[in-house]
Amino acid sequence: MSPDRPVSSDSAARPAIARRAGQLEGVAAVPGDKSISHRALMLGALAIGRTRVTGLLEGDDVLATARALGHLGVTVVRQPDGAWTIDGVGVGGLAEPDTVLDMRNAGTAARLLLGIMATHDLRAVMTGDASLCRRPMARVTEPLSQMGAQFDCAAGGHLPLTVRGARMPVPIVYALPVVSAQVKSAVLFAGLNTMGETSVIEAAPTRDHTVRMMRYFGCTVSSASGKAGTRVTVRGWQEFSAADLSVPADPSSAAFPLVGALLAGSGAVTVRGVCLDPLRTGLYETLAEMGADLSIENRREVSGEPVGDLVAAAGALNAVAVPAARAASMIDEYPVLAAAAALAKGTTRFDGVGELRVKESDRLAAVADGLARCGVPVRTGDDWMEIDGSGGRPVPGTGPDNPVATRQDHRIAMSFLVLGLASRDGVAVEDTAMIGTSFPGFASLMQSLGAPIEALTDAPDRSTGDPA
Ligand code: S3P
Repeated sequence: MSPDRPVSSDSAARPAIARRAGQLEGVAAVPGDKSISHRALMLGALAIGRTRVTGLLEGDDVLATARALGHLGVTVVRQPDGAWTIDGVGVGGLAEPDTVLDMRNAGTAARLLLGIMATHDLRAVMTGDASLCRRPMARVTEPLSQMGAQFDCAAGGHLPLTVRGARMPVPIVYALPVVSAQVKSAVLFAGLNTMGETSVIEAAPTRDHTVRMMRYFGCTVSSASGKAGTRVTVRGWQEFSAADLSVPADPSSAAFPLVGALLAGSGAVTVRGVCLDPLRTGLYETLAEMGADLSIENRREVSGEPVGDLVAAAGALNAVAVPAARAASMIDEYPVLAAAAALAKGTTRFDGVGELRVKESDRLAAVADGLARCGVPVRTGDDWMEIDGSGGRPVPGTGPDNPVATRQDHRIAMSFLVLGLASRDGVAVEDTAMIGTSFPGFASLMQSLGAPIEALTDAPDRSTGDPA
């Protein structure tokens, strides 16, 4: 596989249906963490020497990062043994791309790379697919402009955009107006090639993979707590050397087979080597509060990240109120938690989840619409959702004729397929093609555990194909 392989190139929708699962059982080999994979490629590109990464997620989003770095003059290669090597050019060493950087569906890649390019003396044009071109970019272009970069964006501050990186960037102290690890990381990446100290202040903690990995590569990054929150500071113009990295399994992807196991009639599923950064484990805390039979074994550290093996077994779940303060640590997991909530006893409520409206799709709307199609009572507001659970009875489902709209969103597709495992009529989703952005091989992995997920070849007005 090479990063130049076309990503998500087939525009044909690939519908699929998941039916009620009697038993889910086995060990699920979940791919590498998406957030960590992007950062490994990017920091490898800015290091001096050859970085070797094992366990890299070979999903379309990460391949978009690899390809973009190639256009910026970095040699990124998948070796015959499956490891990826990145020949770093050093901080400040990226070249001006001679082609448009197409980030497809990858929001993290787009925002973090804008941070890196903002303090390189280059001009670049960036675009993405229809979903990415709808997502807000002002949250990164605003602080990066303060550092001296110039942006020419499509209407509304969206992609496509042109970035002209600052020749003499200025360091800033930036208090994050949105709770976003991507914005934090974009500014810290920009700070690497900025003389002086660049700081980000975050009132609510978000995933800290950028800081962990910068330190793993040997960079000096300080972190101090104060009244306004945590201030993270990176010193610019540091040189750092290449490192060998092993990417742990993605807790956001592990959530699908694990929640599937909880909702199936019987059985237990294990996922080994999952990243357990406490800023990523909100879903697992929530499931434990719901009474899930979930355990963590063999805790250890891998390449600067805490890791462990997760085991989930079928059983009853109770409704829960998920506090707003937990949102950042499980922001990508609300759609699959909605599937669990649909089977729980009582009404589950999520608060403080307005950010879900600007993910790969408007996830609050997508989840509400999908649950309603599946016969699950749901209510939603600007930044909250309530779901009335069935108390363990299978939810009605959609059958093959009324598929859930997946809105170019991988996690919506996977979450509703998981819900289908506990449905009476099965849950159909209209398109599984986007699953490859984060979880290549999802359908076959789920099938290997016993999940009855099939490609839907007879859906009206849709082309055929294998799921995922
Ligand atoms: C990510 C941060 C989160 C998350 C995304 C990955 C990251 O986005 O939703 O999937 O790798 O930094 P926000 O920072 O926009 O919340």
